[in-house]
Amino acid sequence: MNIIFLGKPGAGKGTQAKKIADYYRIPHISTGEMFRTAYQEKTPLGVEAHDNYWGAGKLVPDDTTVKLVKERLAKDDCRNGFILDGFPRTVQQAEDLDKIVSIDHTLYIDAPDKICIKRIAGRRNCPTCHKDYNIHFNPPKNDMQCDVCAVALVQRKDDTETIVRQRLLVYEQQTAPLVRHYVKNIVRIVDNGKKTIDALFAEIITALGK
Ligand code: AP5
Ligand code: MG
Repeated sequence: MNIIFLGKPGAGKGTQAKKIADYYRIPHISTGEMFRTAYQEKTPLGVEAHDNYWGAGKLVPDDTTVKLVKERLAKDDCRNGFILDGFPRTVQQAEDLDKIVSIDHTLYIDAPDKICIKRIAGRRNCPTCHKDYNIHFNPPKNDMQCDVCAVALVQRKDDTETIVRQRLLVYEQQTAPLVRHYVKNIVRIVDNGKKTIDALFAEIITALGK
């Protein structure tokens, strides 16, 4: 099953994509994660993408991103399907993807800005074991420390209020038009901010089927 995932920053793409990948036993491919890892490893691409683009809430250029995804999709583990989280993000990326693979489902979590901003503001991560927390919805037991490693939790570099607003703007201008591009196979999940992660996951699985 080849799935792509659309939704604003903070809509819950990463959270749901991990669960979907486990459920269907397909790889979870997040372009945002790929850029963050490349930056941590200080590769030239990683530093360039951070310093000039994602660190400021701007999209990394299409040609760089498409090349990365093309290489990843060519790997053996994608033969039985994949879930792409955060790609495509522009009409150009969608057109390039159409030339490489066919997409079975386009998942789209439709959530209001206010909810997304609150979720992002609360998001924290353990720098050692990478366990995810949210100070509003899934706080650690001890003040801002990982329950497992007892080290201080960190916030993503692009999760400051100014950059989040910039990311939401970029989403409206460049990514929201993709809802029309994928109109034929879109699965729209409405998130009013009151549904739990598990309730949304159940809705997604029902829509996608076994
Ligand atoms: P990327 O990493 O893709 O970030 P994003 O799209 O901005 O989305 P987020 O990861 O912030 O949010 P999410 O929807 O995954 O939410 P999450 O599940 O964490 O991209 C980062 C940057 O990389 C981009 O800005 C761009 O510069 C670059 N980039 C990436 N892809 C690119 C591309 N294709 N082209 C060009 N550039 C690209 O949830 C958020 C929080 O809410 C979590 O704490 C979670 O636990 C909580 N939560 C989720 N659902 C619920 C719920 N139902 N109830 C309560 N809490 C919830
Ligand atoms: Mg994410």
